[in-house]
Amino acid sequence: MQLKDMSRQWWKEGVVYQIYPRSFQDSNGDGIGDLRGIIQRLDYIASLGVDIVWLNPIYKSPNYDNGYDISDYRDIMDDFGTMSDFEEMLAGFHARGIKVVMDLVVNHSSSEHEWFKASRSSRDNPYRDYYHWWPAEKGTPPERWSYFDEQGSAWAFDEQTNAYYLHYFDKTQPDLNWENPKVRQEIFDMMHYWFKKGIDGFRMDVITFISKHDGYPEFEGVHGDKMIDVYASGPRLHQYLHEMNREVLQHYDIMTVAEGPGTNLENIHDLVDEDREELNMNYHFEHVELGLDARKIVNDDHKDLVKFKKIMSAWATAFDEKGWGTQWHTNHDFPRQVTWFGDDSPEHREQSSKLLSTFLLTMRGTPYYYMGDEIGMTNAKFESIEDYNDLMTINWYNLTVAEGGDAQKLLESHKLSGRDNARTPFQWDSTTNAGFSEGTPWLKVTGNYTDINVAAQEGDPDSPLNFFRKLTKLRKDNLTLVYGAYNLLLPDDKYIYAYTRSLDDDVILVVLNYSSEEQVVQLPEASAQCEVLINNYQALEKTANDYKLAPWQAVVLRLE
Ligand code: NOJ
Repeated sequence: MQLKDMSRQWWKEGVVYQIYPRSFQDSNGDGIGDLRGIIQRLDYIASLGVDIVWLNPIYKSPNYDNGYDISDYRDIMDDFGTMSDFEEMLAGFHARGIKVVMDLVVNHSSSEHEWFKASRSSRDNPYRDYYHWWPAEKGTPPERWSYFDEQGSAWAFDEQTNAYYLHYFDKTQPDLNWENPKVRQEIFDMMHYWFKKGIDGFRMDVITFISKHDGYPEFEGVHGDKMIDVYASGPRLHQYLHEMNREVLQHYDIMTVAEGPGTNLENIHDLVDEDREELNMNYHFEHVELGLDARKIVNDDHKDLVKFKKIMSAWATAFDEKGWGTQWHTNHDFPRQVTWFGDDSPEHREQSSKLLSTFLLTMRGTPYYYMGDEIGMTNAKFESIEDYNDLMTINWYNLTVAEGGDAQKLLESHKLSGRDNARTPFQWDSTTNAGFSEGTPWLKVTGNYTDINVAAQEGDPDSPLNFFRKLTKLRKDNLTLVYGAYNLLLPDDKYIYAYTRSLDDDVILVVLNYSSEEQVVQLPEASAQCEVLINNYQALEKTANDYKLAPWQAVVLRLE
């Protein structure tokens, strides 16, 4: 690949750092992270060398799904602060050269949004068509699966008007009716409102679900979570995104990323290719769902490196000609990267964290890095259902109990896979509540915070934190790591993930030992002569092109 052929963009070259505001820093002792807390930590965020921050929803919300149920799209949640706090925070990021991306949650609103209150009040209310309704006199509506519902159905019966409304998520999250042009206009106006305030982009929550199938047909033979692919193939999805692009997006220098359940290598180009004029990037879920059965019950596949490499390689090369990809290991919906993909035992935690960060920052595609992973935060692994706050785990637990299923198995699996694992308070230091809050945190702090925290790692040049800082600089200094072609080596090796990135005459080799044992491996002849750019161990044992790699060793080399 040649740099001169690349369409260079700031959102391709930047590293995104995701902040879950509820758990980052509490400034007023109510146990909930807030915007003033983020303001206090701006210098820390800047010190990481990241370029873009994505904030999970901070809009007004009754918080049944932690802000993914919005009751006012133009205001700030009381727990988080005020609009003037928001403006100060935005200015603070911009003053440090960091862009800010907000969450856009418009597949559904909260059931407490004024639109829904009006919509449910009577069948002839002007807002009735802002949502999807099925009149009860037509009988039971066709089967629709819900992600979170305690009964499993995406239709909720509402007595007031003797009708069912559609909610792909919780019943407090009714789906907006994008088929209604007024709804689209409201959403586009709201997006202009935030862009005019100066934000730099949107991460679009389950945006692939916005177009529903006319007349709510039966999806013959498709049940349960298999419906995800059907939900994502609504007939007017691309028409609406193109319209959004023309009406809003193309008027600003901003970035967009779809959260794309149901996206795959066959349909992804329709969403992200430049000439489609829709969105810039997308998250697929193939790698994070490897090893997950229904209700996030875990199977052994999540440690299958050969399968993982196959998935990652297919996505890393999918955008060689057109479009652009993303790289991520986790977010507020998935387990901590070190627990899921690495080894979170005290012996291997630090090195495996560094290896996973090396992977994300040397792959083709914009890296999305989740707060706390830079210090190697681990899963919380809650023992009891009482410790959970997440409605997903709680509702699935209740549903499993009601079915007479194995609720204990669900709990065991959720120690590994549950969403609350990544939502525990950020670990700043070893004082009470990890320096997150002087009050009682809304979710328990993970037990190991006295060992794993920012203060303990700041002064140690070899800590995961300082290694992450070196990695962001490495990516910035080497456009080969951004735009270079990706080429997988040793596809069938069960422990080693090795690949090259090449741009013009520059070739960078990345070698990662995904195991807690030493591995010996032979790499291409060309690697006999090379310069070590970064290494998570003091030394690299190699003779010519034979490498002896320590557990979780990660090295990045420039070939001469
Ligand atoms: C995806 C979000 O990331 C998740 O946290 C949320 O529960 C669902 N979409 C519903 O909005």
